[in-house]
Amino acid sequence: MKTKKWAWLLGGLLAALILIVIVVIVYIRFALPNVPLQNISVQITPERVARGQYLANHVTVCMDCHSTRDWERFSGPPIPGTIGKGGEVFDQKLGFPGAFSSPNITPFKLGEWSDAEIYRAVTSGENKTGGAMFPIMPYFAYGTLDQEDILSMIAYIRSIPSIRNTPPSSNPAFPMNLVVRTFPRKALPVTKPAESDTVKYGVFRWPGIYNAQRGAYFTQYHGGY
Ligand code: HEC
Repeated sequence: MKTKKWAWLLGGLLAALILIVIVVIVYIRFALPNVPLQNISVQITPERVARGQYLANHVTVCMDCHSTRDWERFSGPPIPGTIGKGGEVFDQKLGFPGAFSSPNITPFKLGEWSDAEIYRAVTSGENKTGGAMFPIMPYFAYGTLDQEDILSMIAYIRSIPSIRNTPPSSNPAFPMNLVVRTFPRKALPVTKPAESDTVKYGVFRWPGIYNAQRGAYFTQYHGGY
C-alpha cells in the first residue's frame, strides 16, 4: 500500500511540474516581449543627419552589419551603394543559435515604421510586429546611449537612399526562439555630460571607467567622441 501512496504523490508532482512548464511557455510565447512604444517623433535636421551619419558609420557601426562588406580591402568597409540594404548572415556555421540575417534598414523597409518603432527596435530589441530580436545587434548597449544620439541615427537612416532588397527573415532555433522573447527590455538612456564639466565628461569619455559603470560606450563608442 505504501508504494501506491508514493506513486500517487510522484504522479501529482509530475503533473504539477508539467502544468507549470506549460504556463511558463504560454506566457513567454504569447505575452512577451512587451516593451511599450514611447512617444517619440524625430525632427530631421541637417545637424542630426550629420551626427547620425558619423555615429552609424564609425561609432555604433550600424552600417557594418546592415550593408555588404568589401573583404578584399582592409577591415572590410561597406560597399558604396549597399548602405543599409541588409543581408549579412549570422548562422550556425558562425556559432549562432539559428539563422539570422540583418534586415534592410533603408526607407524601402523602414518607410512604414514610425520613429517610435525604430527607436524601440534599436534600443530594446522588439520589432514593429512585436517580435523579439536576437542581440547580435547590441541593443542592450544602444539602450544606454544618449537618446539624442539615437534620434540622430534615426534621422540619418531615414535620409539614406532607398534600396529594393528583402533579405530572408531571421529564424532562431529551438529553444532560442522562446528564450529570445525574454530579452527585450526598456531602454535606459543616459545624458551626455557637458564638455565643460571636465570631470564628468572625462569619466564619460574614458572607456575603461565608463565601461565599468555602464557597459555601453566602451564597446560601441570605440571611435570616441
Ligand atoms: C553586429 C551587427 C549589427 C549591428 C552593429 C547593428 N545591427 Fe541592426 N540588426 C542586426 C540583425 C542581425 C538584426 C535582425 C535581428 C533578428 O532578427 O533577430 C537587426 C535588426 C535591426 C532592425 C529591425 C529591422 C526589422 O526589419 O526587423 C533595425 C531597425 C536595426 N537593426 C537598425 C540598426 C541600427 C540603427 C544600428 C546602429 C545603431 C544597428 N542596427 C546596428 C545586426 C546589426
